[in-house]
Amino acid sequence: MPETWFNVEDAERLAAERLEPGVLGYFAGGAGDEETLRENREAWRRWRLVPRVLTDVSAVTTRTEVLGAPVDAPILVAPTAFQRLLHPDGELATARAAAAAGTAFIHSTLATIAPPDIAAGAPAGRRWAQIYCFEDKGVTRALWEHALAAGYEAIVLTVDAPPAGNRERDLRTGFVVPADLRVPSLDAACGPGREYTITQTFDLMDRSLDWDDLGDLVAETGVPVLIKGVVAAEDAALAVERGAGGVVVSNHGGRQLDRSLATAEALAGVVDAVDGRVPVLVDGGIRRGVDVALALALGADAVLIGRPALWGLTLEGEEGVRKVLDLLTAELELALALCGVKAPGELTRAHLRRG
Ligand SMILES: Cc1cc2nc3c(=O)[nH]c(=O)nc-3n(C[C@H](O)[C@H](O)[C@H](O)COP(=O)(O)O)c2cc1C
Repeated sequence: MPETWFNVEDAERLAAERLEPGVLGYFAGGAGDEETLRENREAWRRWRLVPRVLTDVSAVTTRTEVLGAPVDAPILVAPTAFQRLLHPDGELATARAAAAAGTAFIHSTLATIAPPDIAAGAPAGRRWAQIYCFEDKGVTRALWEHALAAGYEAIVLTVDAPPAGNRERDLRTGFVVPADLRVPSLDAACGPGREYTITQTFDLMDRSLDWDDLGDLVAETGVPVLIKGVVAAEDAALAVERGAGGVVVSNHGGRQLDRSLATAEALAGVVDAVDGRVPVLVDGGIRRGVDVALALALGADAVLIGRPALWGLTLEGEEGVRKVLDLLTAELELALALCGVKAPGELTRAHLRRG
């Protein structure tokens, strides 16, 4: 009988027992000393909520809008690579679970299933396409053109990984992306049947990317382009100036620059710099509904979850991802009611204190 899990940490512990060391290290690990990996989680814990009472919370909803369309909760699924290493259904299971939970799925450039196949297999859901820019510009263009043709509504340009971070767990285990794992973007760039280290994978990307490239992508794609991997408020302001349709405060789950500022610490500055002009999303270390509530109170429009969805996928495929999303949504709903608010948008910095 599968072991019961009641929260994301339970799922993480059980998934860790299931996965072999190389795969676990790749998915769970961070860069360098893993300070940022740890701090992402700890930084949410440094905030405290200040609940209001006697506000009639008989009807509380987690529903809200992101990019002008509804979601059942402001909890979206972050783009994460190589999901078929965790479950044979891979990204399709994750996309179906997101659709069933009424939220958006973000497809990784390094997914093991191509964007149109996800659209065909999970047609009901909202889908955005994450882009890394390959040196081979044709590969990048084909990626977003195929996604947009398949009904993806936004592009998420990830900018915090020009080279790969120093992921020592992968060095210790000798982790490689196996040659028999199909990764459509890598197949397009280099042909099928190759084995890649993570460093080799990122060596295929264009390190010369700059703000002009963001402007070009905005002009060419004609859909909202969110920029993912912003920590500095100054970069958030530049992104809005260059036409970004949204900003994702992220340090790649602590996998890129170790000692990068935790996202819970970076969020308020970005929110202030963006000043309501475009949506601000945040990810990194969000493991509880109260973490989501804190992010909303700091001014985020929504959060993304990376590893939590992956642990659900590992344990129970589509059902498991759904369970993680449902758990976090139920925890958020409870947090809203106990904070004395009826909807995500009602949380403000007045509900916050430093712990
Ligand atoms: C195993 C793994 C693979 C990832 N792959 C990608 C990716 O392909 N593209 C991307 O933009 N971000 C990627 N990320 C970063 C996530 O989108 C997200 O920023 C991060 O996981 C959030 O932190 P959390 O895992 O603590 O929720 C990856 C993260 C993990 C853990």
